[in-house]
Amino acid sequence: MQTFHINTKEKREETGDLFGIFFEDINHAADGGLYAELIQNRAFEFDPIDNKEYHALYAWEKVCQDKEAVELTILTDSPYTEKNPHYLRIETKKTLSGIKNKGFSKGIALKAKETYHFSCYLRMVNKPADIKVRLVGKNGYEYTSAILKADSCEWKKHTVDFYINEDEGCGEAQLEVLCCEPGSFELDFVSLFPHDTYKNRKNGLRKDLCKLLEAMHPKFIRFPGGCLVHDGKLDENARDSMYRWKNTIGPVENRPARRNNWGYNQTLGLGYYEYFQLAEDIGAEPLPVIPAAYDPHHQRKVSLDELKPWIDDALDLIEFANGDETTVWGKKRTQLGHPKPFGLKYLAIGNEEVGEGFTERYPYFHKAIREKYPDIKLIGSASPFAAGGEYERGWKSARECGCDLIDEHFYMNTDWMIANTDRYDNFKKDDSKVFLGEYASWGNKWENALAEAAFMTGLEKNVHAVALACYAPMFANVDYINWKPDMIWFDSQNSYGSVNYHVQSMFMRHQGTHRLDFELEESPKEQYDRIVNENKIKEKAKTISGEVRVKVHDGEGAFFDALVTNTKTGEKIHLSNHEGTMKQAEQRNAFAAAQKIGEIPSDWTEYTLTLKAKQTSGRKGFLIYIGEENNHILWTLGGWQNLDICLERFKDNKGACLSESMFSVVRHHEYNLKLNVNDRKMEAFADGVSMVSAEDRVAVAKPLYISTAYDGKCGDVIIKAINVTERASDARFVLQGITGRHSVTLEQMKAMPYEENTMDSPNKVVPYTYDEFINGGSFTRSFEPFSITVMRIHL
Ligand code: AHR
Repeated sequence: MQTFHINTKEKREETGDLFGIFFEDINHAADGGLYAELIQNRAFEFDPIDNKEYHALYAWEKVCQDKEAVELTILTDSPYTEKNPHYLRIETKKTLSGIKNKGFSKGIALKAKETYHFSCYLRMVNKPADIKVRLVGKNGYEYTSAILKADSCEWKKHTVDFYINEDEGCGEAQLEVLCCEPGSFELDFVSLFPHDTYKNRKNGLRKDLCKLLEAMHPKFIRFPGGCLVHDGKLDENARDSMYRWKNTIGPVENRPARRNNWGYNQTLGLGYYEYFQLAEDIGAEPLPVIPAAYDPHHQRKVSLDELKPWIDDALDLIEFANGDETTVWGKKRTQLGHPKPFGLKYLAIGNEEVGEGFTERYPYFHKAIREKYPDIKLIGSASPFAAGGEYERGWKSARECGCDLIDEHFYMNTDWMIANTDRYDNFKKDDSKVFLGEYASWGNKWENALAEAAFMTGLEKNVHAVALACYAPMFANVDYINWKPDMIWFDSQNSYGSVNYHVQSMFMRHQGTHRLDFELEESPKEQYDRIVNENKIKEKAKTISGEVRVKVHDGEGAFFDALVTNTKTGEKIHLSNHEGTMKQAEQRNAFAAAQKIGEIPSDWTEYTLTLKAKQTSGRKGFLIYIGEENNHILWTLGGWQNLDICLERFKDNKGACLSESMFSVVRHHEYNLKLNVNDRKMEAFADGVSMVSAEDRVAVAKPLYISTAYDGKCGDVIIKAINVTERASDARFVLQGITGRHSVTLEQMKAMPYEENTMDSPNKVVPYTYDEFINGGSFTRSFEPFSITVMRIHL
């Protein structure tokens, strides 16, 4: 049995703000999600720029038997505010006719015995008109209504509180705005909020979702997004601009609707003030991400001599968060209702940045902010990859600038997570600290959460180098999915935490204040058995071998002169040539669509694959596969936007990008490609130049993943034990220097690897707690297969 000796007397590094959360408006996480507004397209600002199906009347419909009797005209000539210029003129020839809004998802969720706050702007056209506003359920059942008067030639705001005095609510209600008699009126900013928002805030947030966040006790919240922040035009007034925080504060009517790069519209009703407020309400440090005047998605960059307004935005943001009333932006915050500073400590510049566009600009931001606000912890970006040229470029820049932290991101398969629990073991404590700002394994099943938990013990163990970490993405509305997996799932009425959520929550709630050292003691026999077992797993693991398949990514081209040379024996295998066309439809299953040109024997562990490749049409470059459909290496050249070269391991359709660098394929150029394979190491060359290298590490699960911490707030010693294997794992713990009887609170989760929480079974896999006692400073335990156990020993 393994024995873990825990040094309980010597507190090591502070764990600080290690585990937090990341909010991005993806999967309708804000509008139609956390932001409690129930009306979709409330200001008639939806636009094909957001989504090609959108138009100014999206989510609205005429209400009238005779549709011809209602005329709807979108106007912009005399709006309430130029920031949101569209408004609606309704002209009807029939009584009680007009329009209705279907809300988000399947409809507006109305709860029994709840109050809803309605508001809209009305303007009369020729003469006053009586307007009926009503909430109707399915089959036209009227829950409640009110009569408003459009009797002013100027825009006038009207408000009504609707009470649902019924015993049952309705998940699919609609809001109707009707002209009582034939006539006309103008309408804008139609809004409906539940009164019961989180902390009862106006323009507030959905309570159930905030409660899920609050319950985790996150140490920080990264916002307002990842790609959403830097994917956009440079002009802050462009409809599809980058995310500019100044557009998101003040009266919601003046926040310009914006294209959300996830294919929908952002009202910005949930803006920077609300984000800071949310952070404060859930007790998390705010961690904003601002664009670095560079959009890597479209290679847009602000010239270096025009950076000032962008840097000023960063400085003003800090003043907005922390300045007192005598400062311009501190005063604005006070006027918005929050005289007390928000206490901003962290600021991230950029997200998943690739290319020198970022590393050229970042230093200017850094220098200016450092000079004015030396205490703000500045965060650089290390690309969206775990290794490779762009990752190194980010780190180099961070070191040169003296970044406090550097933001790493990766989405990987469970094997990679297990194989890389030691990723940060050799990171230095006097370097920039790692902010693992986005990570997840590909799935919401228990096997994913378990792998993440094992990986997180590696973060805790290396808190000297890893300062912050947050899972991504946070929210998904089941009716609008852009990205899976996600931590919290919801529809318009219900929400639940995925198994990954519960694991994140366990790590946050049991972070402790200091790391404790522990040592693993194994008998020689145990050590021998373990090593034999590890070697067996490594030997059984699939070598980098099997079918070789090739494909021009999304166009036409040719592969020829392919040859595999065994570097140990000198044997050679000639592969066939391939000339191919890639139809759009085939791209979904690229492996199957790729052409098999030969096979590399499984016992060839040291070899060189050489081939020539030419792309003659298409936007991207080449895909080269080695292996089988559900377990292969993919070598991509000219991937993403024909901008990179990657080596990835795919297992069961889930990828792990092992390494990436920048590389663009030039049309009609004949490339000499070479891949050197040496056991699990690969190095890829194009035209004789080494482009990317990687190690495809085998996932060898330890019997237990352990981390230990001390909680200075209550004096507890915390032990986390993760068993990712199918066997029970026994361990003995020796708490050095501890005697006597102590109570222990255990929090556990266990399930089969394929299990998950769903909307129908939201609590299938959740933690449960119980108490035990230990006598003396040592105890043994058996940890069940596929389980996570957190033990809090109350000293
Ligand atoms: O978390 C989803 C997306 O993943 C983020 O927007 C981006 O930073 C990353 O590519």
